[in-house]
Amino acid sequence: MITRLEAKPVRRILTSLTRQRKQSSVCPEFPALEGRTALVTGPTSGIGRATVAGLLARGAEVVLLGRHADKLSALADALGADGLDTDRLTPVVCDLANLDSVAAAVHDITQIMRRKPLDILVENAAIMPKQYAETAQGYEISFGTNVLGHFALRAGLLRSCLSDKARVIILTGDTYVLANSCSPNYYWRTTLGGLKAYNRSKLGNFWIGRELQRRYPRLNVFIVHPGVVATKLGANGPLASVVKQSVFVTPEAGAQTSLICATQADLAHGSYYHNVHGEVELTNADPAMNDWEARQFWDACARISERGLGNRVSTLRRAS
Ligand SMILES: NC(=O)c1ccc[n+]([C@@H]2O[C@H](COP(=O)([O-])OP(=O)(O)OC[C@H]3O[C@@H](n4cnc5c(N)ncnc54)[C@H](OP(=O)(O)O)[C@@H]3O)[C@@H](O)[C@H]2O)c1
Repeated sequence: MITRLEAKPVRRILTSLTRQRKQSSVCPEFPALEGRTALVTGPTSGIGRATVAGLLARGAEVVLLGRHADKLSALADALGADGLDTDRLTPVVCDLANLDSVAAAVHDITQIMRRKPLDILVENAAIMPKQYAETAQGYEISFGTNVLGHFALRAGLLRSCLSDKARVIILTGDTYVLANSCSPNYYWRTTLGGLKAYNRSKLGNFWIGRELQRRYPRLNVFIVHPGVVATKLGANGPLASVVKQSVFVTPEAGAQTSLICATQADLAHGSYYHNVHGEVELTNADPAMNDWEARQFWDACARISERGLGNRVSTLRRAS
């Protein structure tokens, strides 16, 4: 069943908040993923960590892409303590907010895969900044991490090991509907600036997902709203903790839509999957449906990430 959602932000967000604890989707245990390899960005906490646990439990090999080696090894220890087979985990250190680091990670992943195809790519990592900050290359940090870092990573993997029929799962958040634009040159300084920058980046994730499907029709691209989930994203004070515990869903529940898109047959490629509504159809008034903006945005990301990856590849060549 397809649910049609109007571009009415307040109604949309309230409906999912009030219904999500009873009506969130749950991923079936099958099919198993033995012989499949997945890569998850942002595995060290929240939804990413629960997604890794779900993929491991279904038999997948999982490449963990995170920015701190010690957190990746602590994650492996914790998953092992939960009884999961951590021999199927491979850590790769990568800071998505640095295109040099992304290029080095693409190189490492290509070596790790050794001509085996990468079957599932979960673009999950994200930040919602509290203060204005920039990436190593000078881009606003939420655009640079949530959109650009993933763009460069995926572009590198598409050239090396990403299967041409891979499932690519791109995490957005339904609050993208509060934004009307996303661009590489956003500057903010107000209290709500970080939230706005985050919402813009989630619209950017949505545009890139739709455009990726259009440009690579053999891929299976899914754009996912995981729910409103109690993780470390966003505010973390005492009041926020009470709200998170009483209204939000757990990271395990928040991982279910990503797991559905990673495993289930008969899904609609290029579509938006929502934890409460399942497959969603949007109206033309929705900012996510602005295909002209999406194309311009893709081209801008491609120009920046090509420059970043190109520089790094020539440096690596000179050094070897
Ligand atoms: N939570 C929600 O209610 C909600 C709602 C809608 C959508 N989402 C989306 O769901 C996804 C997961 O969010 P979450 O709530 O699970 O967030 P989270 O608990 O804050 O986890 C974010 C992950 O991203 C990683 N990360 C941040 N910056 C990075 C960088 N520069 N390079 C590499 N990794 C980086 C973090 O690594 P460190 O451990 O090193 O910090 C962490 O593993 C995000 O795309 C988010 O937009 C969440």
